[in-house]
Amino acid sequence: MNLNEQPPAVSAINGISRRDVLRGTAAALAVGGMAKAGFAQAASASAAENGKAFPGRFLWGCATAGHQVEGNNTSSDFWTLEHLPQSMFKEPSGDACDHYHLYAQDIAMLADLGFNTYRFSLEWARIEPEEGFFSNAELEHYRRMLAACQEHRLTSLLTYSHFSVPLWFAKKGGWQNPGAPDLYAHFCEKATKHLGDLVGYASTLNEPDIPQLLDWFNLPGAPQGMSVAQMMQMAQGNVRKQLNAPEFADFFLGDPVKTRDGLLAAHAKGRDAMKSVRPGMPVGFNLAMSDDQPAPEDSHLEEKRADVYGPWLEAAKHCDYLGVQTYSRSIVGKRDLPAPQGAELTQNGMEFYPECVEHVVRFAAKETRVPIYVTENGIATEDDTRRVEYYRRALAGLKRAIDDGVDVRGYVAWSLMDNFEWQSGFTPKFGIVAVDRATQRRTIKPSAAFLGNIARRNAL
Ligand code: BGC
Repeated sequence: MNLNEQPPAVSAINGISRRDVLRGTAAALAVGGMAKAGFAQAASASAAENGKAFPGRFLWGCATAGHQVEGNNTSSDFWTLEHLPQSMFKEPSGDACDHYHLYAQDIAMLADLGFNTYRFSLEWARIEPEEGFFSNAELEHYRRMLAACQEHRLTSLLTYSHFSVPLWFAKKGGWQNPGAPDLYAHFCEKATKHLGDLVGYASTLNEPDIPQLLDWFNLPGAPQGMSVAQMMQMAQGNVRKQLNAPEFADFFLGDPVKTRDGLLAAHAKGRDAMKSVRPGMPVGFNLAMSDDQPAPEDSHLEEKRADVYGPWLEAAKHCDYLGVQTYSRSIVGKRDLPAPQGAELTQNGMEFYPECVEHVVRFAAKETRVPIYVTENGIATEDDTRRVEYYRRALAGLKRAIDDGVDVRGYVAWSLMDNFEWQSGFTPKFGIVAVDRATQRRTIKPSAAFLGNIARRNAL
């Protein structure tokens, strides 16, 4: 099949059209040359024979995060920051993908495409919009989402905190506040009491190492050679003034060391709170990891690893699993160096480097010895043929690692749909499904077909 051929759209406005999704899936199957489930099974058997099969019970999924897709997350820190007169955001999140209302059809679409897993997150700001007030109605909303996953036989990977926090929490100093770990653990306990029985895998935090990672990041054109972390700290000063909130801090805006220490304590207390409610629930977290490679001269690679990942790899040893999230590589000199001359860059300026998946899972597994799940991987591009190529190479690399005995048990693509990419607004396109934000119409891209077909067959 020609990968440029457009599969049909899914109308989100008039309710889900399962026929459309199934037609889209048929296109998906055709990408791999399979048209029917029966063939898929046969293919799986032959794939096993020729060594293309992934391990049994492998999780194949897509991820989203509440604030990026739900829309109208009005009690959160991000919503407020997006609407400041001197906002750092390209545009506000607004209705986003209205996943808050359209989750049922989105989850059905994911299952119909061939996946068996959905990773999504809670919005703490909805559940506890004012300190100490927990909304049962909002908890019920997430319960319905988890039930929809069950109905479609999807394993749920539930992230309790994906960057955004309640505004009241940020105004009290966010993760830097010495009381933050207890406030977070209280939320974790409440949420687990209400939802825990339906959760497949819980994650305390999404990418808690970002404050450190940003400090190593190469940002071409940064004023006076400032690091991203320094720029964030400057932005924090402006936000505090504009909001007249002298303690304001959140995931990105704050002192990186204090934030890290707060997040480490919040992770430990959050995990204990979850386990106190449901001891058998698998709990881990999702670590942002670049495929770090040494520069030919003056490489500080080991220093970077110790600084960024060190404490978190240690924390992972006390978890049931580690989720790793990777997008590209970094050539590490004194800091990360710019991508090599002539390298293909993705829409958000990263090097097109799908082999990062293989390298990162090998490293993470060796360091932690816990089961590894790839919980985010993908690229920002308008050209879906490049996305297909990226996933093809990423999965070939993942398979090499698994064949060498690396204990990887799942692969979750970022992202199910084009969504709100934080400061960059809706411009970068990470989705395997396109979203027309005026109509909320979903259109399945060829990459969804490509990945869904692999998921269905559990084989390359
Ligand atoms: C985050 C996502 C983000 C993605 C692409 C990850 O760091 O968890 O929220 O959209 O990368 O930039």
